[in-house]
Amino acid sequence: MILNLLKDELINSYHLSCLIYFKELPSTNKFAKDLPVSNDVLILTDHQTSGNGRFGRKWVSSSGCDLAFSIVKKFDLGIDSLHIVNFYSSYTMILTLSELFGSSSNKFTLKWPNDILLNGKKVCGILLEVQDLNVQVKKFIIGLGVNINSNNFSDEIAKKATSLLASTGKIQSREDILIKFVSNFYKNIKFISQPDKLMVFWKDLTEVIGKKINFKIVEDSEEISAVAENIETDGGLKVKMQNGESKVFYSGEITFVY
Ligand code: BTN
Repeated sequence: MILNLLKDELINSYHLSCLIYFKELPSTNKFAKDLPVSNDVLILTDHQTSGNGRFGRKWVSSSGCDLAFSIVKKFDLGIDSLHIVNFYSSYTMILTLSELFGSSSNKFTLKWPNDILLNGKKVCGILLEVQDLNVQVKKFIIGLGVNINSNNFSDEIAKKATSLLASTGKIQSREDILIKFVSNFYKNIKFISQPDKLMVFWKDLTEVIGKKINFKIVEDSEEISAVAENIETDGGLKVKMQNGESKVFYSGEITFVY
């Protein structure tokens, strides 16, 4: 990682108050959670050895190849609006990746609730954790893992995941992606208080609406076959079940049925 460049671009631009870098770290989210009260801090590592994903899963990044980082940011948001930070973060990352690499052969889409797909395969995952739930100004830990220059996916993973290198055929600069992401994150931050507007843009970048899906609420729960009807402004996924009944879910995971 070219730290001088990152320091120049991220700290001197006044976006961040602090950049904390480790050559190796178990998890940037875990480190951020243990940090005493802080704001506008970015934690970054070249080698995340025990990354956490959603549903208690592991998140594996290749040492020196991918991006694993967390932003610590405080937002004045009520308990009903926490999801907006999730949608805002995935929106900011898809904007960043599309600006840098989007083309007719490299199409980025959003998959509810916050995955970013490149040509249908996962290229970025986000784990949002919130502290101080009982105070109005809460500490958000936004952890992002982006597959950038890793290319050794097992056959099993290669069906579902990709990297920028695997899809574009070129080694990409992790620094450029991080700098643009942070710049976009602060540039559009007003969206956090404009959920209706944000969700219009978000929905425009997802292909789930109208599709047949399998849905599960937690990792080992039974799958439900349904059709995705809408993503509501409150972040819920509205689905039509096989018995014709519509239901809104606020967390879970979908897989497309082709
Ligand atoms: C998922 O799709 O399951 C979410 C993956 C989130 C991974 C990132 S990598 C940086 C940050 N630190 C972690 O331990 N997890 C997140």
